[in-house]
Amino acid sequence: MMGENYQGKVCLVTGAARGIGKACAKKFAEYGADVILIDINRQVVEQAAQEIAQAYGCKATPFAVDLSSTDACDGLMREIKEQVGTVNVLANCAGITVSKCLLDVTPADWERVVNVDLRAIWYLSQLFAKQLIAAGKKQGNIVSISSQASKIGEYGNGVYSVSKAGINSLTQVLGLEYAEHGISVSAVCPGYVNTEMVQEVFQTRAPLEGMTPAEYEKTLTGSVPMGRMCEPEEVADLMAFLAGGRANYITGVTVTIAGGKTLI
Ligand SMILES: NC(=O)c1ccc[n+]([C@@H]2O[C@H](COP(=O)([O-])OP(=O)(O)OC[C@H]3O[C@@H](n4cnc5c(N)ncnc54)[C@H](O)[C@@H]3O)[C@@H](O)[C@H]2O)c1
Repeated sequence: MMGENYQGKVCLVTGAARGIGKACAKKFAEYGADVILIDINRQVVEQAAQEIAQAYGCKATPFAVDLSSTDACDGLMREIKEQVGTVNVLANCAGITVSKCLLDVTPADWERVVNVDLRAIWYLSQLFAKQLIAAGKKQGNIVSISSQASKIGEYGNGVYSVSKAGINSLTQVLGLEYAEHGISVSAVCPGYVNTEMVQEVFQTRAPLEGMTPAEYEKTLTGSVPMGRMCEPEEVADLMAFLAGGRANYITGVTVTIAGGKTLI
């Protein structure tokens, strides 16, 4: 994929302390953007921002926020307006899961996962669009991370699968409603990506499947037609394309990046 031009843009990335979110913030910075890094983990997100500012010579501003709170999202966008200015790109990468079968999921589990994985994306997208409209801009981009779990369902991962399927639908409706404001909206559906989250999932879900984490990892990667996990940078590349100037006419779509996993 050719490089993108993000010169003069401010990109807000959630879940940016580690994993795909951090890779995505790096990619935007590499392509010339200033970045805002949001994460619930203050220490790690501050380190990530420092690392990115040094490596790419850009402005990288960290904020520690729990995105499951709509009040916290309101406060965040107010602070950003004062400290940074208008945001041009919103990349929704924060996400959590609970490794439980639906028979065992509690209302509290359901609420926690849905609020972080789905409601926060709707709410931030609304605040993002409002600040662009108020600033008189007719251009902006939203890209969110959904999952292959939204397409195939995953055993022991029901609340997450439901939330991610919700992102796909949200992306379609936002694409439709925000088109008149010049805001493109898309989502990516990654397969197994080699991050801390997936390593943690191997630990917790393996016992549900009666396997050791190593056996579980081998079984999962063996089930991918391309026979390997995806790297965070590969997802970040796709997100930078979808949120970049060359993809402005693409909206309401979800693009699967799963090594063929959803084809079988
Ligand atoms: N790793 C995979 O295999 C995979 C596959 C498909 C989709 N995804 C999705 O990609 C995204 C990133 O996944 P990852 O593997 O990099 O995970 P990760 O756990 O490494 O990173 C997620 C980040 O989100 C942050 N976060 C969690 N809850 C938050 C909250 N309430 N407020 C603010 N920040 C919060 C975490 O602190 C963490 O830094 C997630 O949405 C995930 O569902 C991951």
